[in-house]
Amino acid sequence: MGGILDRRHFKLISGTANKKLADEVSKILKIPLTPVEIKRFHDGEIYCRVLESVRGCDVYIIQPTSPDASLHLMELLILVDALKRSSPDKITAVIPYYGYCRQDKKTKPREPITAKLVANMIATAGVNRVIMFDLHVAQVQGFFDIPSDNLDVIPLFADYIADKKLKDIVIVSPDAGGAARARAFGKVLNAPIAIVDKRRPEQNVSEVENVIGDVKSKTAFLVDDIIDTAGSITEASNILLKFGAKEIYALATHGVLSNPAIERISNSKIKEIIITNTIEIPIEKMASKLKVISIAPLLAETIKRTHEGLPMGIIYEEMYRRLERKIKK
Ligand code: R5P
Repeated sequence: MGGILDRRHFKLISGTANKKLADEVSKILKIPLTPVEIKRFHDGEIYCRVLESVRGCDVYIIQPTSPDASLHLMELLILVDALKRSSPDKITAVIPYYGYCRQDKKTKPREPITAKLVANMIATAGVNRVIMFDLHVAQVQGFFDIPSDNLDVIPLFADYIADKKLKDIVIVSPDAGGAARARAFGKVLNAPIAIVDKRRPEQNVSEVENVIGDVKSKTAFLVDDIIDTAGSITEASNILLKFGAKEIYALATHGVLSNPAIERISNSKIKEIIITNTIEIPIEKMASKLKVISIAPLLAETIKRTHEGLPMGIIYEEMYRRLERKIKK
């Protein structure tokens, strides 16, 4: 893949949330990150300054709102404000992991809908476009009154699964809400699906009792958007084993990995857990079962095409075509 041709009018900026990913993207695009100064006042307030002119530029800020979600969100908003007051042509917020997205509807009276609140805050700050990966539910895209892209990582994961050349696989959603995601994986990999019947009596607590679909003697691939405390996937893996699954892998786009995720993962019977680097995984959380797939090449291509006003559809068509050929072999 080539770099950015119009270097003069293109700027790539990183917040502090995932500098490693921003560095990878900058390398692929052959364009250095625009330097920024980001520091904290003694009372915790954030200070940001962009150290180069951005006048008339198409600016991309890479900043997932990963843990600490509120801090990283605030940093993004302040960076956007600093940019907006410096006369760029456009500001695109690249938010590989969009935090606060799980509160996407009211389930009890007097609850907030933070997925919408945060979308409003981002647009109000001055962002012209957002690029995100695997939103918790696709309709959150509609919460943005500015153009938004919700990038699919299924081809990256499906490619990894196809390379394993396993027979008798089943794609499993750990809850009813993820059924559409499991169906999409199943379609690409030509595999049946199953759904775990998960209930949430309260936030971060999950209970499972049943599996819908046949998992007996099969290799199960649990697919989810987020692994937070790892309660969902570890409980789902236990019930899958109870229902006769042969072995279990888990795939999730966003490795939030809050405590006690690593302990649960290490104690579980899951063979391997595959996540992406939408969230930077600190070294102390890199459990031996964890495998990280990089979204950097796909993100770099997306940024390049957005800058050049080109569609993304053909990139996905090509990825899916390649995958189909691999699976047929
Ligand atoms: C919930 O609906 C999400 O899709 C994930 O299943 C959930 O956020 C995972 O959380 P945890 O790892 O804490 O069970």
